[in-house]
Amino acid sequence: MATEILLNVNGGEYRLAVDLRTTLLDALREQLDLTGTKKGCDLGQCGAYTVLMDGRRVLSCLILAVAAQGAEVTTIEGLAGEHDPLHPMQQAFLEQDAYQCGYCPPGQIISTIACVQEGHAGSADEIREYMSGNLCRCAAYPKIVAAVQQVKPLMEDR
Ligand code: FES
Repeated sequence: MATEILLNVNGGEYRLAVDLRTTLLDALREQLDLTGTKKGCDLGQCGAYTVLMDGRRVLSCLILAVAAQGAEVTTIEGLAGEHDPLHPMQQAFLEQDAYQCGYCPPGQIISTIACVQEGHAGSADEIREYMSGNLCRCAAYPKIVAAVQQVKPLMEDR
């Protein structure tokens, strides 16, 4: 039986009819067509499905869509500002060549932004530790760290 819920995603409000067992990830991808958030292991172990809820990173495959009501959800599609085509972290990923196949970057980028905002980007070791929940099968890890270090001063000035 479907239940009606109201989700706030990337600044917009969406009324959806979902099964109570629907995850936030499936609601985003299958009902809102926000396919930037990837379905990786779907078990909370790879981080490909990381999104922000009220500014905190969460694993959207482990959160029920009904539980996301009342929160501001931000996906990779919602990062760019009104006048900027890309968030500075997205730009830094491009400049540092911090990806290869492109499967993990949406989750990586969301997670790196949270990592900086949480104050956990003080050193390369700290970045690696606080990014350890996001796996990259292409092993772009050194370049991801470089992208975070490039953007950290910019984000702190914002
Ligand atoms: S770029 Fe391929 S998994 Fe990270």
